Amino acid sequence: MSLANLEHQARTELESCSDEAALRAWHNKYFGKQGEVLLALKKVGSVPPEERRSYGQEANRVKEALTEAHDAALAKVKERALAQSLNAAAVDVTLPGRPLTRGRWHIANRILRDIAAIFSDLGFQIYRSREVEDDFTNFELLNMPPHHPARDMWDTFHTTVPGVLLRTHTSPGQIHVMREHCPEPIRVILPGMCYRYETITTRSEIMFHQVEGLAVGARVTMADLKGTIVAFARRMFGEERQVRIRSSYFPFTEPSIEVDMDCIVCAGKGCSLCKRSGWLEIMGAGMVHPVVLQNGGYDPAKFSGFAFGMGPQRITMLKYAIDDIRQFWTNDLRFLRQF
Ligand code: FA5
Repeated sequence: MSLANLEHQARTELESCSDEAALRAWHNKYFGKQGEVLLALKKVGSVPPEERRSYGQEANRVKEALTEAHDAALAKVKERALAQSLNAAAVDVTLPGRPLTRGRWHIANRILRDIAAIFSDLGFQIYRSREVEDDFTNFELLNMPPHHPARDMWDTFHTTVPGVLLRTHTSPGQIHVMREHCPEPIRVILPGMCYRYETITTRSEIMFHQVEGLAVGARVTMADLKGTIVAFARRMFGEERQVRIRSSYFPFTEPSIEVDMDCIVCAGKGCSLCKRSGWLEIMGAGMVHPVVLQNGGYDPAKFSGFAFGMGPQRITMLKYAIDDIRQFWTNDLRFLRQF
């Protein structure tokens, strides 16, 4: 076959290739190992010497022209296939998206975070203390020797290891912070779970959060404690809040106080939330007892401190008028989704 015929035949066949598979077969036929174009090129040796040069040039031209035509045809076929697939699986960009189900913070954790945010603005750091404690730190170092009647205030879960218990309050954390930081000044909150062997009621659980606060320094006074509590109550419950202090008793503070806030519902007039008293209790507090300061490594002649302990579940109940503390840990989504 002459080169002109070869080119003509190849081009005609190329035009009828409608997909990639046909183009591949075409390419094999002309450019494969035994391909006709390659055979034509090899034939240059058998051509009479005077025609050899022009034959060689022409054969190369045909090879390049066909390669170019093949590449162009391949590009066109690919483009057509892409357009077809885009049309077939068209995306309707005007459809509304499917809603994602988003998680959220459990209300108990959210309140802990709110409390932490308020105290960090007041310059307090967060200190995490262990939930499994020893009797010595949970009671004795907090000024409650064995058989001290005040131990009855905290019904305790003991473990099978003698002297090891689930902490009944976050106060033993005070000892850990003081021993770690002595003689530096301290300003921390200690949030975390506490456990008490109590009858479960609408107001009392056997596991609940507490947030302890502790400040120790050269001249920490009751006025600092009061200022801190008022600042906290107003950030948490509203700028108008009034705070009332009553005397109380805790073995690890002296003097000890209990803190009430005017009722968020009736602003002190008396309603069912505050049991007609006009006040809601928010925490126990006091000046750190000298014995406790000493147990933490601080010299009570040079240092003083205040401490407080509040129950975030009770605070959340006040804030959102929740009437049953058991809702916190029953994992009822109808309850949790409200917050
Ligand atoms: C204490 O536990 C003291 N450690 C608090 C303290 C710290 C006083 C530092 C002075 C200085 P109390 O037993 O009152 O005190 O508990 C503190 C708060 O924990 C309570 O006001 C209440 O909000 C919460 N709380 C106590 N028992 C339960 C319970 N069973 N369920 C839910 N919350 C509870």
